Amino acid sequence: MYNGKARAYTNIALIKYWGKKDQELILPMNNSLSLTLDAFHTETSVHFSPDYTKDSFYLDDLEQDAKATTKVSRFLDLARKKAGISYCACVKSQNFVPTAAGLASSASGLAALTGACNDALQLGLSDKELSQLARRGSGSACRSIFGGFVEWEKGDSDETSFAQKIPSNNWEEDLAMIFILINDQKKEVSSRDGMQLTVETSAYYDSWLETTAKDIQTAKEAILQQDFQALGEVTESNGLKMHATTLAAVPPFTYWSPDSLRAMNTVRRIRKNGLSCYFTMDAGPNVKVLCQKKDVSAILTELQKEFEEEQLTCAYAGKGLKSLEMEVSK
Ligand code: ADP
Ligand code: DP6
Repeated sequence: MYNGKARAYTNIALIKYWGKKDQELILPMNNSLSLTLDAFHTETSVHFSPDYTKDSFYLDDLEQDAKATTKVSRFLDLARKKAGISYCACVKSQNFVPTAAGLASSASGLAALTGACNDALQLGLSDKELSQLARRGSGSACRSIFGGFVEWEKGDSDETSFAQKIPSNNWEEDLAMIFILINDQKKEVSSRDGMQLTVETSAYYDSWLETTAKDIQTAKEAILQQDFQALGEVTESNGLKMHATTLAAVPPFTYWSPDSLRAMNTVRRIRKNGLSCYFTMDAGPNVKVLCQKKDVSAILTELQKEFEEEQLTCAYAGKGLKSLEMEVSK
């Protein structure tokens, strides 16, 4: 009773979510569009019990401090409210992705926690409701409920802000994303703090908002037409625009490191030499390269001239949230 376990994969936004209009409900300023990937994921179990006197949170077998546990507790409160119970819980999570390094652990982490709570409390939520709930934990998590191409409709209320799968004729099966790992350590500015500072102070924030709706349209059209060049171009330019907003924040900041720039220039060079590939970056120094499956080994060969083999991970389209059987405890 009151046990649940789930797995969720990370997703990388091709058109970024960057800024909230409601921080409590996590309502974004703009729609975003992502690809769920198979290389990185989180598995989370949760056990609610009348015997527990407080919530506890273990990440990668380490008990987390009060700050991290409070964040999880706030999310558990939402699930408890839906179930009409007040039991405390023990959450155990394994990240098969570096945590807080700009590789989207918050997306897989909170989506997996959503699935585990849904099972443990027998909430019976639909995919749309799972997405709405995951969003309250971390915005990007609402997209990890689904596999393949996903759009998060910004909405203007708890009810109307959720993600859904974009029809794609399974085109994502032909695509890949190569991760160039520059640094897997925790970043200095979290996505949450970085986007908020940008909304409040960046001179370029309004320009960002003015162009994202158009970028979403361009990306959706490219997916419909299976036009890789068009999807790649809008992905790369949207990512660069997001990062431009941080340079105009007060105080200014950047997630880029010298090696991020080296990676971006390498991708440009590979493209100039005839292999179609485009980069994107999130709130961290790591660079992700969108390409077609057929070109993966040629692109990897080129990237290996600049980066160590251990720095390169190739991901393909991943699946949505999955319930896992709980192991029977002895
Ligand atoms: P990332 O780029 O990895 O998504 P963020 O700064 O956006 O980095 O988010 C990292 C935060 O996400 C962590 O500090 C933690 O609060 C949360 N998080 C990461 N993994 C998990 C997990 N498995 N379970 C619950 N919360 C998680
Ligand atoms: C740059 O979803 O981690 O990766 O909603 O505050 O938890 P919170 O932020 P989070 O931000 C992700 C930002 C991004 C872009 C994206 O994934 O769309």
